[in-house]
This record gives sequence, C-alpha cells and structure tokens, in this order.
Amino acid sequence: MDILRTVVELRHWSRGLREWSRALGLQAVTEGGNLLGLVPTMGALHAGHASLIRLARKSCGYVAVSIFVNPTQFGPTEDFARYPRAFDEDCALAHAEGATVVFAPAVEEMYPPGASTLVDVAGLSRRLDGASRPGHFQGVATVVAKLLIASEADCAFFGQKDAAQVAVIRRLAADLRLATRIVVCPIVRDHSGLALSSRNVYLDLAERIQARVLRQTLISVESLVAQGERRAQTLLAAAHQTFATVPEVRIDYIELVHPDTLLPVESAVPGTLLALAAYVGKTRLIDNTILP
Ligand code: PAF
Repeated sequence: MDILRTVVELRHWSRGLREWSRALGLQAVTEGGNLLGLVPTMGALHAGHASLIRLARKSCGYVAVSIFVNPTQFGPTEDFARYPRAFDEDCALAHAEGATVVFAPAVEEMYPPGASTLVDVAGLSRRLDGASRPGHFQGVATVVAKLLIASEADCAFFGQKDAAQVAVIRRLAADLRLATRIVVCPIVRDHSGLALSSRNVYLDLAERIQARVLRQTLISVESLVAQGERRAQTLLAAAHQTFATVPEVRIDYIELVHPDTLLPVESAVPGTLLALAAYVGKTRLIDNTILP
C-alpha cells in the first residue's frame, strides 16, 4: 500500500487510475461505476473507521484513506496537540481493510504559506457542535473540500456519528456541485453502547461507565417515540431526565432537529435527528440517532 504525501501525488495517482482503467476498458469504471472511494480521517483509526474502509472497498474499485489531523477544525483551547496519533498502526489497519493508498500530507501541504481561502457553509456551520465550537465546521468544510477536489473521488465515506458534520458536508458538496457522492455509514458502538470515537482513549474506566448515559438517553427517547410520543418538548424533557441520572456528565446540547437543516423541530417525524453532546470529565463526546 503506497503512502502519498502531496496533493499533486494524490491527483496524479487518481487520474492515472482513471486513465489506466479506461484504457483497459473496465466497464464498471467507464460506465458509471465507482472507481475511487475516499475515506477522510484524522487517524487514530478504530473499528468505526474500519467499517468505512470496508464499505468503500465494497462499492469502489480503489480506496484512498486520508490521515490528516486538521488544525483548522480545533479551537485554541481544544486538543489539537494531544489528539491521538498512531500513524504506523493506522496504515496497518487501512491496509488490512483493503485501502489502496494512504494520503498523509503535512500541514503545510494542505495549508501552504499564505493560504487564506476558507469554506463556510453559512448557517449550518453554526448549529449543534458549530454553536459550541466556533470555527469548527469552517475548518472541516475547508479541509474536506480540499480533499474532495484533490482526490477527484467518486464517493467519499463519513460516519453518521458526526451527524452535524454530515449535514455540513452534504450541503458543501451540493452547493459546490462536486462530483463526489457523499456516503454516510452507520454508527459503530462498543459492547456497552458507547459510540466509537478516537477521543474515547481519553476516558478512564469510571468515565467510560458514566459515558453510557449518552446512549441510554437516546434509547429513552426512542422508546417514547415507539410508544407514540411525538412532541419535541416531551421527548427532550425525557432525554434531560435520563441524562440527569449521571450528574458527573455535563450536557453541552440535546436537540431534536431536521437532519439536513439542523433546525429544531416541534414534533418528531420519521427521520428526525436526536443529537447530543456532553462532557465526560474533560472529554467532549457526541452521539445521535435518527428516529424511526
Ligand atoms: O470526521 C473526521 O475525522 C474529520 O472531521 C474529517 C472529516 C476527516 C475532516 O478533518
């Protein structure tokens, strides 16, 4: 598995792949099939990332995994410096799951000296996590736009765990008329129900147990919906009540929103997004469910 370090290398590789496949007359490639899948990551890969790579491999002939801890999506007091980095293990996992290449640029490669172009998905960028983490989604949108443009991928794969990020990226791809199809993959959880995240390594044992309340909160709302309750006010009150059973965990937000606009709804309908974020110790975790 090759490791590419520059945008020119990535673009050259992607275009070479396309020309080569066309020259060989590979049908799936020339007649609307997916040649290249991109799995953008910040490394510290876990089973959630592995599932993205596997899904990419199923629907695309070749898979590029990008590993780049993007500084612009971290606030000044956030964990950019201590964000987990495990490059060799990441490459081994990517390779084992069928990735064709890893794209691992330096910061100066993605943000050359003097770089001043930022991508802002107005409105959406300030909802949910964007409200608590100003500038976060501008950083995400900027780097994802760069990755999609550089790779010329047919499909790019993102996890549903980052539901607000998914809404921002879908809007970005639609607004910029990008050719890449955005594919969203299910949340992967550990045996206790905790959604997998690279930040889970920050949690000690007691915090891991406390963190179960995130999933329990989602389940409490899901079961009310299953009983026929639809009023957002009632559902959110129940969510807060469940959350309060573990007072050590501090809520950032719990919201019932439209999955595309991220605007609050008054009544839950099939497809409504219940999203939450909370601090477990110093670690900020997010989770969500799409209501049936
Ligand atoms: O979800 C992530 O890991 C990051 O936000 C992404 C999409 C790779 C952009 O840096």
